[in-house]
Amino acid sequence: MTEISVPKGLVGVIVDKTAICTTDAEGNLVYRGYKTVDLVSKKTFEEVAYLIVHGDLPDRNQLKEFNEMLVKNGEIDSRVLKVIDLLKERDIMKNLRSMISLYPYSTADASHMLPEIISKVPGIIAHSYASVTGKKVGNSDAPTYSGRFYQMITGNSDSRKSEFLSKLMILYMEHEFNASTFVLRVAASTLTDPASAFTSALGTLKGPLHGGANAEILDFFKSFRNEEEAVKFVDSQLESGKKVMGFGHRVYKQKDPRAQLVKQLMKELNPDSKELRIAEAIEARVWEKKHLPANLDFYAAILMDQLGIPQDLYTAIFAAARVFGWWAHYEEQLSDNKLIRPSSEYVGKKDRVL
Ligand code: COA
Repeated sequence: MTEISVPKGLVGVIVDKTAICTTDAEGNLVYRGYKTVDLVSKKTFEEVAYLIVHGDLPDRNQLKEFNEMLVKNGEIDSRVLKVIDLLKERDIMKNLRSMISLYPYSTADASHMLPEIISKVPGIIAHSYASVTGKKVGNSDAPTYSGRFYQMITGNSDSRKSEFLSKLMILYMEHEFNASTFVLRVAASTLTDPASAFTSALGTLKGPLHGGANAEILDFFKSFRNEEEAVKFVDSQLESGKKVMGFGHRVYKQKDPRAQLVKQLMKELNPDSKELRIAEAIEARVWEKKHLPANLDFYAAILMDQLGIPQDLYTAIFAAARVFGWWAHYEEQLSDNKLIRPSSEYVGKKDRVL
């Protein structure tokens, strides 16, 4: 076997093929051949989820069955609800990871495990949040995954806000070999079960350099009263060698197309907001000083705040969308599997004698 060395962090290394998602030459994010900018404006979250998982957009019956399947399997086992109530864990991602790791809660048919796990994600998130806030889980009578999710976590059925969240979730749904998806594919390549692979991916998504970034942005953003204060903060972060969360990306070095789409959504929702002006001032300053683009998480956090969604839920919302990408990647990995097991260069001590 000839071994090759690749750059640290696998920067710029193509490790396998995928037919699910890519970025085209113009910098558009593309799902199964369709530009996300078109999908966000013309299709629902569930239509796009079906597309990601099955490869084509659904017809009316296929969409109906898909929605019914996600709603039908969404109920959470009462023993799991008891554990959630007992733990009252503030970290919603930790709770989601733990409750998915317990799945199946009773014997399950392996062929149904993927959709069943995914259907339970909104309920686990909503119950976890309710257990720490003491608020009730909102009614969940909407007929769709994203609509029910919005109702359960916010307790209201404002259809306009629900639609904005589902558009944001389309953009969070899939992003080829990002860290959590790659981890899921490594796990799948060992032929482990879907719940174990999803648990690995959830643990990875939670990290602040990945999905966890969106939960940290409001920590600084909310304190700014105007653009000047925001720019001062950026300067002091960069001068002291610290990162500005919500900036930079492994793939997008000029512009993150998802961030720009979310900015458009913010403009539609609230065109004259102070938050939008401050966000654009931060974006311009980080670009001027470091040539780093705002990423999806930067604008997503501010949009979610404007939609009245509590900060504790941001990374979990990312997860509730990305699980459809993971479903597709789990199946794609197994459709042409080879164990993912790289080599390493040993740099430790040698020839030690006891
Ligand atoms: N703020 C300030 N500087 C940053 C930065 C940020 N958010 N992101 C990257 N940089 C700097 C790095 O320190 C590095 O500087 P150097 O060349 O002087 O050492 C340079 O920009 C290149 O960054 P690098 O870490 O090599 O990029 P990467 O591709 O390995 O990392 C991220 C990508 C996403 C991990 C990185 O940009 C980051 O940590 N961003 C903040 C967290 C975040 O928003 N994550 C969500 C991603 S969608």
